[in-house]
Amino acid sequence: MFYPDEIVEEVRARNDIVDVVSGYVKLQKKGGNHWACCPFHNEDTPSFAVSGSKQMFHCFGCGVSGNVYTFVMKYENFTFPEAIKLLAERAGVKLPEMEYTEEQKQKANHRTRLMEVNKEAATFFYYQLRSPKGTVGYEYLKKRQLSDETMKKFGLGYSGKSGRDLVAYLRQKGFEDKLICDAGLAVVSERSGLVSQFWNRVMFPIQDINGKVIGFGGRVMGDGEPKYLNSPETDVFDKRRNLFGLNFARTARTGNIILCEGYMDVIAMHQAGFTQAVASLGTAFTVEQAKLLRRYTDNVLLAYDSDGAGVKAALRGIGILRDAGLTGKVIDMKPYKDPDEFMKALGKDAFQERIDRAENSFFFEVRILQGQFNMNDPEEKTKFHREIAKKLCQFSEEVERDNYLQAVAEKYFIGVENLRKLVLTYAVQTGDARPMERPKSGIQRKNTAEENAKKAQRLLLTWITDEPALFAKIKKFVTADDFTDEIYRIVAEKLFRDMEAGIYNPASIISTFEDEETQRAAAEVFHTTLPKLDSRQEREKALHDILLAVKKNSYEAVSARLGSDVSALTQAIEGKKALEELAKTHISLADVK
Ligand code: GTP
Ligand code: MN
Repeated sequence: MFYPDEIVEEVRARNDIVDVVSGYVKLQKKGGNHWACCPFHNEDTPSFAVSGSKQMFHCFGCGVSGNVYTFVMKYENFTFPEAIKLLAERAGVKLPEMEYTEEQKQKANHRTRLMEVNKEAATFFYYQLRSPKGTVGYEYLKKRQLSDETMKKFGLGYSGKSGRDLVAYLRQKGFEDKLICDAGLAVVSERSGLVSQFWNRVMFPIQDINGKVIGFGGRVMGDGEPKYLNSPETDVFDKRRNLFGLNFARTARTGNIILCEGYMDVIAMHQAGFTQAVASLGTAFTVEQAKLLRRYTDNVLLAYDSDGAGVKAALRGIGILRDAGLTGKVIDMKPYKDPDEFMKALGKDAFQERIDRAENSFFFEVRILQGQFNMNDPEEKTKFHREIAKKLCQFSEEVERDNYLQAVAEKYFIGVENLRKLVLTYAVQTGDARPMERPKSGIQRKNTAEENAKKAQRLLLTWITDEPALFAKIKKFVTADDFTDEIYRIVAEKLFRDMEAGIYNPASIISTFEDEETQRAAAEVFHTTLPKLDSRQEREKALHDILLAVKKNSYEAVSARLGSDVSALTQAIEGKKALEELAKTHISLADVK
């Protein structure tokens, strides 16, 4: 890798994976593993396991696997160097100066440069706003009742009457045209060369959680189209994974986060003291953003517009929050359109009251649902009750479902027992309202010989790492060369070599692979689901079968090469002998586990 292996290993060893992961998701100990709902796909029942003894994680639902590095890389969307930096800092290990590969250097460099050019652009906009040229922008923001302090906190700016000024400024600061384009700060136009598409707008720098400027939103002054112009996605600006205001909100410690629709809403809220407000980036709220929020709170309040579009967006948001395991509540903004207008009209105390009275997302959904039915028509009313029953089926936990059932029955004057029966009907019909079985895997894997062979190899490696004592029993029958899959072979080589030296450290093997994809494949090796076998005889038979399958496949692979490769002949003969011997041998597991 780019750091010496010993450093990579030291940092890994000093960061217990259970500790690290529990900083991100709530883990529950059950058996030898710690479990949680997988942070990398949506699920209601935990299939994400973290093993303290293996120092690895694995999701039995979506198949992600890895060690503490893989986890941080996936969760934080980090590169390896970024992950090792974070973990080294966490454990107090001092990293030596990096040895980058050329490609690495370029990629990291490019990201750094993008951040730099964004920062410089933000500075340019900032000073424009405060210069005579920026009076229009400044007056506009003043009219919207933002204080100088607020403008400063959010680094608000103004983009000038011409799209050329920014380009000229950035060039003069030494940024190449290509970089300016890559950052989405300008485009090449046939008529006028490189020009910024941001002109005559008040500018909202969009910061990542560390406060680095990754993009911009620009609002037209007065009416005009488009009202907001946002930077395009770039190597540093991922709209699905960032939230406006989160760099401040993450430290608000209010026990909740308020999700708004607009940048202006967030700013107005912060100005009024609600520093836990965030907004998505000109696009709909995403699953990734919900997961990001989950790091800071499990209680999200939606402060969406009170109009039809806002209600629709809120309903959608509730679903996303629920899937991410977050509690969603809805703040009533009526009779005002959005938090910004509410705050101006009624002030912060009134808003705090609205927060305290925020509506539970289930009741919000039911209330919106009711609006679609005519309650004076018995038939429509029945339909409404059926819809409620269906909704209640979403709660997989019985106590919770029943609590909601009673509450909603009371609220809408429905007989509790009648509603209960209705729920039961739907629950049986749809198979809902019971913890759902995990789908095996999205796509049915083809049952090819190759797949089978790989599976046997995975099983064997998982089994050995689960029960290291097994190694002594089987080592005379299997060598790393028997693993025909390239990655598995490398894993086996390292694992066997370690075990021969009395070292048990599977997690370290993973970080010796360079790229993330290979790391994932390697990690998978340690997490195959072993068959549940109770008796010793069953276990012995299973082990024998797996060994035989691995050996046979290895022998066949060598035989297939016979024609072209002379050295394969000796190997084949030896392989055949070993295979025959193994077939006759009984491996006793009497003293294992
Ligand atoms: P103000 O009129 O300035 O108060 O805007 P707002 O904060 O009330 O925003 P609005 O509810 O109109 O829109 C919410 C968010 O959607 C904005 O903050 C933008 O991120 C985004 N948005 C609004 N209009 C546009 C548009 O024309 N294009 C794009 N890409 N995004 C927009
Ligand atoms: Mn508004």
